Amino acid sequence: MRRPLPVVGDLLAFQSDRLRFVTSMQREHGDVARFQLGPFPVWQLAHPDLVRQVLVTDAAGFRKGMVLQRARVVLGDGLLTAEGDVHRQHRDLVQPAFHSRRITGYASVMVERCAAVTAAWTPREPLDVHAATVRMTLETAGATLLGTSVDVGSVEGALADLLSAYKLAFLPFSEKLQGLPVGPLRRLQRGRRRLHGLVDSVVAERSSSGRDGGDLLSALVLDSGGLSSQELRDEATTLLLAGHETTANTLAFALHLLAVHPSVQASVHDEVSGIGGELGPADLDRLPLCRAVVSETLRLYPPSWMMGRQALVSHQVGDQVIAPGDLVVLPQWVVHHDERWWPQPFSFDPARWLDGASDRPRWAFFPFGAGLRRCIGEGFAWTEAVLGLATIVRHWRLRPVPGRPLRLDPLITLRPRGGLWLIPEPREHASRLA
Ligand code: HEM
Repeated sequence: MRRPLPVVGDLLAFQSDRLRFVTSMQREHGDVARFQLGPFPVWQLAHPDLVRQVLVTDAAGFRKGMVLQRARVVLGDGLLTAEGDVHRQHRDLVQPAFHSRRITGYASVMVERCAAVTAAWTPREPLDVHAATVRMTLETAGATLLGTSVDVGSVEGALADLLSAYKLAFLPFSEKLQGLPVGPLRRLQRGRRRLHGLVDSVVAERSSSGRDGGDLLSALVLDSGGLSSQELRDEATTLLLAGHETTANTLAFALHLLAVHPSVQASVHDEVSGIGGELGPADLDRLPLCRAVVSETLRLYPPSWMMGRQALVSHQVGDQVIAPGDLVVLPQWVVHHDERWWPQPFSFDPARWLDGASDRPRWAFFPFGAGLRRCIGEGFAWTEAVLGLATIVRHWRLRPVPGRPLRLDPLITLRPRGGLWLIPEPREHASRLA
């Protein structure tokens, strides 16, 4: 039974187990549930029609939610956090750099980085595959988006500093607290300085040299029609952060699911073995099972597990009215595990993506959001996740590590807590043993 407390409301229950909290909200109160996070009234909307209403049809009546509003301290007016006209202008500028032709050009970097990281794996030694997939996607993002090799340790350290401040976003007066030199807030400031230092030096080099490295930042510097250095920093920081961790988590979760479902892993291996030579973008159409595994992973473990908005005007939702200023959350975690749309919702069943047309509502699956703010990197992410998965399974068989189950950490993104440990076995070895 929920007992909201004075001042903090449901904040303690929410923070103590976020996935359980949002699940129980829907179980106890239905598709439209209201709770209180610190000073903020929050509406949880957990039905595909309501997802469409907030993200597509009534999108202009909302701004980003509290977490991304607070993230502006790091991401400024980058695409993820900008609002209104600034967002529209920047989206128009950045969009061409995500054209499918450019992403096709990035595919060889994706495969090459993936192969290089996995080449260093020690056969049969338990391995944190999440750390490995973060390295792959961050190195890929550095090369393709910024045209530079990034120091993985520094960016990951900065990201950990930033994530540590997530829990503060809903505290009363959190905006004013941000400058205080205490605990996680000091780490937030440190993470911000580290990231901006790194990005500023790349932006300065590119702006002064005018070099076109074929990467996205070059495209922005050369074709942007004069984005200021502050705007370039905001976009580059946003793309570096938004462009690696979510895909790394997807790949790591997919490898976990294959490790605990060896028969699916064997079928994926059969699919990949049927393709000769180096994998490349032309093979994407020949990897339907890999794609289905990625889809099912995004359903079961959506890296964006809950999206937030704040109402700018009042909205009628069923027989309830959302007032201006109220927060709205759209929990992928709940909608993606709803048995009305997904029979046996907690089962890993890639076949549900292979059976042709389905009659489930379109917005029962929204790992990349929807509407005008839909993820700009979706094509990039699909290419990287599908080719990355195929590259790894081609060479390695993954097994679970006894006694190290997957634990989840739902912060801004859903990530594994304490790493994701698997045992890699080289394929040649596996087949010799068989
Ligand atoms: C599996 C991987 C990914 C997932 C699950 C994911 C998810 C999302 C979601 C849900 C949003 C919408 C946020 C909102 O409306 O509040 C979003 C936006 C965004 N994503 Fe991704 N993303 C992924 C990969 C990427 C990649 C690879 C990039 C860049 C290379 C990227 C860059 C962005 C940017 C810049 C936005 C803001 C777009 C805008 O508002 O115009 N994402 N992403």
